[in-house]
Amino acid sequence: MPFTIALWHQKGGVAKTTTAISLGACFAERGHETLLIDLDPQGNLTSGLGFDPEQARGSAADVLLGNDTLATVSRETCLPGLDLAPSNPDMVTLPRWLHLREKYEPLLRQALARPEVAHYRVAILDCPPMLGPLTVAALTAADLALIPTQCEYFSVQTLANSLDLVQLVRGRTNPRLAYRILVTMFDGRGLLHSRILAQLQGVFPDALLQSMIGVDSKLRESQLAGRPITLHANSSRAAQQYRQLAEELLTYAQRSVQEAA
Ligand SMILES: Nc1ncnc2c1ncn2[C@@H]1O[C@H](COP(=O)(O)OP(=O)(O)OP(=O)(O)O)[C@@H](O)[C@H]1O
Ligand SMILES: [Mg+2]
Repeated sequence: MPFTIALWHQKGGVAKTTTAISLGACFAERGHETLLIDLDPQGNLTSGLGFDPEQARGSAADVLLGNDTLATVSRETCLPGLDLAPSNPDMVTLPRWLHLREKYEPLLRQALARPEVAHYRVAILDCPPMLGPLTVAALTAADLALIPTQCEYFSVQTLANSLDLVQLVRGRTNPRLAYRILVTMFDGRGLLHSRILAQLQGVFPDALLQSMIGVDSKLRESQLAGRPITLHANSSRAAQQYRQLAEELLTYAQRSVQEAA
């Protein structure tokens, strides 16, 4: 099964989707085949890679409803080795269907365990910014919950809720779920971000990743262009920082696979 990372934080706009695209591109660039799965009815991951969610024929909804497999709904992106299972309007009503279904939690994990997707080294799941069945299914499938946060009061305040869900899923459907926190949109020029960063380091000495992502307007431009940052601005600061993050997570994944063996 691919090493599975779920981008999750209940707070909106903390760079879950930006991290999913950029990290996926960095893994693919290093030769690790990566499948991105857009679980957000907003479809930002899909449009950020240049596809129109309104036009996408298959989506993760078809997979979770049992009508299709990940292999059939996935498509190649502009970057070799980076594939996408898109979101489409069917995702909007999906949470309601899932609620009605008994035992919906392991459906995504089962889809990722199928032989047709075994060639992917990594799967990255982009969660919506809400507690709900899509997020629970994603965290049940994941080896790692990657929680991006800004060094801002509201983001850090919501962190507790996001971690509560990780604990809940760990207790109920996925005991092996680990989590790591990633600081995004960091701006060291003011005092506030540095102060909040120091607090995060104090509270989460092990879970806070070494890699950090600074503010970089090239990321916004790249989403408008529908291309990952590594293609849009190969040597930008954000591209370099996401490469460093990919490196740190690959080391983490190798270590956790060895420990589990
Ligand atoms: N490092 C960065 N520097 C500058 N802008 C950024 C950075 N990371 C993300 N952004 C911008 O911040 C906005 C929110 O990012 P993004 O959509 O990835 O967040 P999200 O957590 O997925 O949001 P949602 O919860 O709504 O799904 C976007 O406009 C994105 O381009
Ligand atoms: Mg998003």
